[in-house]
Amino acid sequence: MKTSLVLALLSMFALGSASLLSGDTTSRQKPSPPDGELLYKTHCTRCHSTPPSLSDRQTRVIVRHMRVRANLLSVDYQAVLAYLSQNVKTRD
Ligand code: HEC
Repeated sequence: MKTSLVLALLSMFALGSASLLSGDTTSRQKPSPPDGELLYKTHCTRCHSTPPSLSDRQTRVIVRHMRVRANLLSVDYQAVLAYLSQNVKTRD
């Protein structure tokens, strides 16, 4: 009776630490955020050379259209947009 209680407690402890360990592994393998510059160079320079200088509003609208041409995922589109609005001289 006493032994089985101890065993039950031990197995609960083992299961608990196993799930703790696996939780730790997933947090370490978190994917890094997409690199907008790399994405631009990979997907957009197929048809374009350097990004043109446009206003932020024009960039947003155009990149939304170009997202379809370049087959970008939503996260990648956000990254390209961020890259262009930070690194391209924009006019207002
Ligand atoms: C399949 C070829 C193709 C791909 C890939 C592509 N574009 Fe374009 N892009 C074009 C064409 C063609 C135009 C000219 C306007 C039109 O016909 O819509 C254009 C126009 C533009 C313009 C307007 C200014 C200009 O140069 O005429 C911008 C800015 C732009 N693209 C950015 C991008 C970005 C950012 C990406 C990557 C997410 C991208 N493009 C991917 C073909 C492409």
